[in-house]
Amino acid sequence: MKNPRYQQTLRPVCITGTGSFVPDRIMTNQDLEKIVDTTDQWILDRTGIRERRIAGEQEFTSTMGAEAARRALADAGVSPEEVDLIIVATITPDMVFPNTACYVQEAIGATHAFCFDLEAACSGFLYGLEVAEQFVSSGRVDTVLLIGAEKISSITDWSDRSLCILFGDGAGAAVIQSREDATGILASSLKSDGGLASLLQLPAGGSRLPASMETVAQKLHYMKMDGREVFKHAVTCMTTAAKDALSQCGLTMEDIALVIPHQANMRIIKAIGDRLGGDREKYFVNLDRYGNTSAASVIVALDEAARSGRLHPGDKVLMIAFGGGFVWGATILEWSKA
Ligand code: UT7
Repeated sequence: MKNPRYQQTLRPVCITGTGSFVPDRIMTNQDLEKIVDTTDQWILDRTGIRERRIAGEQEFTSTMGAEAARRALADAGVSPEEVDLIIVATITPDMVFPNTACYVQEAIGATHAFCFDLEAACSGFLYGLEVAEQFVSSGRVDTVLLIGAEKISSITDWSDRSLCILFGDGAGAAVIQSREDATGILASSLKSDGGLASLLQLPAGGSRLPASMETVAQKLHYMKMDGREVFKHAVTCMTTAAKDALSQCGLTMEDIALVIPHQANMRIIKAIGDRLGGDREKYFVNLDRYGNTSAASVIVALDEAARSGRLHPGDKVLMIAFGGGFVWGATILEWSKA
């Protein structure tokens, strides 16, 4: 007899609720002028960022993720007890272990969920969506809570002017379920290249270079990035992934109602726009207010787009991301939420 576990037919998967949370504390470019040798004008011209949010001492990746999760669950009309699986995409977990998803579970009372973290840097939400899709489409679980959350300020070298101006803290969450009448995810193109790992990384604190007096003295517990190289790869990789996803489902940019690009740099978004085409109004931007929030970037933007009335049932949404690894990708879904 065939194993019943493998007899499920695949179900369409969709986002039934979104939520986001950013800390109250705003750090402007003018504030940064007082910390490092930079100017508001330089940051604005080179990145498009005006300000970012910085978590308080008692705000962690899990507490921000939990608040975003509560908002997403309320939006979906789902109780915490109905959640089967919590995935937290992050590069700034509360601790190396236990996983941050377990802290979120405890905070929101999702007593029936199993929980794990997923590390795919700034592409964490798209990678997480792919994982969630497999769980839900197969019928293995009904409800996934997917969170992208970061306290990037905790791994930021506040004396490195090329890095500290770029990032911010925040969290976003999505409830992923199946709906009979949903079209769901139309295409996804996820890629990685471990050969380029050294261009963007946090060298110390893991098993390769455990914490020591030397690693702390050398500031190896902070992010390191070759900005120019990352910039070039980000543009090429995100453009290629988006084109691949479009061709997979036979769509053109004309068919896309909204593009949610990773919010790293306005010049990157413009360069992708030049290569992909499509009306500039279609490219959602909130990096001026938040900077790069890594794994939270795409889902915070998606939530803001949904809440501001930019998304309607039937709209095709193209999400694109790129991050350290390198890991990148593009996902196209049909929005089904009214
Ligand atoms: O999530 C994915 C990861 N991250 C990214 O996608 C970021 C990708 N990279 C970038 O966004 C850009 O490369 C940066 C915004 C980081 C830098 O912009 P850039 O146009 O590539 O500048 P650059 O690194 O080529 O630096 C140009 C100059 C340098 O001075 P010199 O060598 O020409 O004298 C830098 O030292 O600008 C200087 N500089 C600054 N000046 C004022 C670097 N940072 C600053 C600063 N303020 N904050």
